[in-house]
Amino acid sequence: MIVYEIKNNFCQLLLAKLRDKKRCVEEFRKASFKLSQVLISEALSLLPYEKKKIDTPVENKVETLTFNRDIVFLPILRAGLSMLPAAIDMYEKGRVGFIGIKRNEETLKPELYYLKIPVVKDGFYIILDPMLATGGTATLTVKKLIDTGIKPENVIFVSLISAPEGIEKLSHFKKIKIVTASIDRELNSKGYILPGLGDAGDRFCF
Ligand code: PRP
Repeated sequence: MIVYEIKNNFCQLLLAKLRDKKRCVEEFRKASFKLSQVLISEALSLLPYEKKKIDTPVENKVETLTFNRDIVFLPILRAGLSMLPAAIDMYEKGRVGFIGIKRNEETLKPELYYLKIPVVKDGFYIILDPMLATGGTATLTVKKLIDTGIKPENVIFVSLISAPEGIEKLSHFKKIKIVTASIDRELNSKGYILPGLGDAGDRFCF
């Protein structure tokens, strides 16, 4: 498994807004949209593009790139929905599936309540969830994709922030990729990421 931690200053700036508890919902949503755009563009840049020659108005047969395979964005309900507008904005042809999982706040185990995944031959699946905490939710999602016949090498998990514990759990899947803006320090006893940004779903949906 390869983890891409996108630590540039612009991402840090957006993360600072997301982490700051004084930020209002409008600011949180705006920063979340922009950071999602950056991370999703990083995920899209990992896909295998093909060469293609085109004619510009001033020169013929200029070598460029094309992409002809399907991409499915898969937000994990509920908080993952916050990243979907940015995903569609970055890649308008993207298909969309949904998986509904709620973490049981006592056991910290993921509970599946909805699943609708378009199956596309040789397509790529970009899972969207702002937080990778214990990794239970992400692991269940990847398992469901594999059960559907999707190859792990075609799966990219995109999170705004991640805990080391979640990364470790997902590393069980050797061929998937993770794109995140931060690997935070640790989880607390309630399974919250530290320093984190609180509950992304609650702050986005409010
Ligand atoms: C949060 C978050 C992830 C999950 C991460 O969702 O958005 O989906 O917890 O936790 P894990 O890595 O320990 O499994 P939550 O279960 O609170 O549901 P919500 O999106 O409906 O708020």
